[in-house]
Amino acid sequence: MNADIIVDLQYGDCGKGKVTHHLCKSGEYTHVIRYNGGCNAGHTIYHNGEKYVTHHIPAGVFYGIKSIIGPGCVVSPTQFFKELEELKEGGIETAGIIYIAKNTHVITDSHMEEDGKDSKIGTTKRGNGPAYRDKYARNGVRAEKVPELQEYIIDLYDELHGDKDVNVLFEGAQGFGLDIDWGDYPYVTSSHCTAGAAILNGIPPQAISKVWGVAKAYETYVGRKKFQPDDDIFNMLRQVGSEYGATTGRPRQCNWMNWDLVEKAININGVTDLVFNKMDILDKLGKWVIRKGNQTVQFSNEGYMKDWILTMLEARDINVHFSGDKERI
Ligand code: IMP
Ligand code: MG
Repeated sequence: MNADIIVDLQYGDCGKGKVTHHLCKSGEYTHVIRYNGGCNAGHTIYHNGEKYVTHHIPAGVFYGIKSIIGPGCVVSPTQFFKELEELKEGGIETAGIIYIAKNTHVITDSHMEEDGKDSKIGTTKRGNGPAYRDKYARNGVRAEKVPELQEYIIDLYDELHGDKDVNVLFEGAQGFGLDIDWGDYPYVTSSHCTAGAAILNGIPPQAISKVWGVAKAYETYVGRKKFQPDDDIFNMLRQVGSEYGATTGRPRQCNWMNWDLVEKAININGVTDLVFNKMDILDKLGKWVIRKGNQTVQFSNEGYMKDWILTMLEARDINVHFSGDKERI
C-alpha cells in the first residue's frame, strides 16, 4: 500500500486541482480520494483543452481512476448529482468510477439554508459548517442512509484493505490558513486541511510516501476578515491573476506571499515536494515581493525570487517546482 497527499499551504486556490490532474497522468494511482471539505471547494482543471470546475468529485475522474469522496468530507447529494451531470455533458466517463464512502456525512438542504445566512465568517454558503457540526454532535446522516446515493456507496475499508495493491492519491481541499485548528480562527473552514487529515480516511501513516505542498507566488483569501492591504497594486494583482472564487465568483483579497505561513505549513504537513503556482502572474505585474516577519523582501525579477526561495529551502530535502498559470509542472 502506498499513498501520496496533496495539501494547500496557503488559503486554498493555489492550484491543487492542477497538481492532482498532473499527477494522475502517470497512471500510477489506483485511487484518488478527496479527504476533507465539501462543495465549498472549487478545483479548476484544464483537461484536453476544456475547462472544468469540480467541487466534490476528485480529479482522478478525468483519467478514469477510481475517485472517492472520503469520510473526512461532507457531501451534498444535490451538488453531487449536478456535478456528475456536468462531467457527463463535458464528455467525461463517470460510470463505475465515482464513489462516496459509506461513512461520509451528508450536507442537507437545511444545512445549506442555515449557512446561507452567515454574515460573520464569509463562508461559501455551501452548508459546510452546519454539516460538520451535526456530524460531531452525532445528529448527522451518513451517505449510506441516503437512498439516491446507493449506487455510489463504497466501503472504504474493504476497498483499501482487500487483496489488491493500492496506490492512493489524496486530494485536499481549502488550505493551511483555513484549517480549523491551524488557521486564523474563527476565519477558518470546518474541516482539517493538513496532511494529517488524509490518514483519517482509512490509510495507516506508514503508507504515506510523498506530501505535495501547493502554494502560489502570492496569497489570496476569500472571506470576511480584512486581508488585503490598502494599495491599488493588489487590485491589479487580482485582475492579472483572475482571482475570483471558482465556487462563489467572489473577488479574492490579495497580498504578497507570507513566507512564515508557507514555512509553518511545510513543517506541519511534512512536505516532500513543493509547487509554487502562478509565478507568471507576478511577471505580468512586474513586481516580485515576499513578506517575512515584519519585512518585505523585493526582487527585481522572477529569477531572484526563485533563488531566494531555493536558498530558504536549501537545508531541507524538498523537490521544488515553479509553474505558471495553466502551465504543466
Ligand atoms: P466554509 O468552508 O464555506 O464554511 O467557509 C469558511 C471560510 O473558508 C471562508 O472564508 C471561505 O471563503 C473559505 N473557503 C472555503 N472553501 C474554500 C476554497 O475552496 N477556497 C478558498 N476559500 C475557501
Ligand atoms: Mg478553489
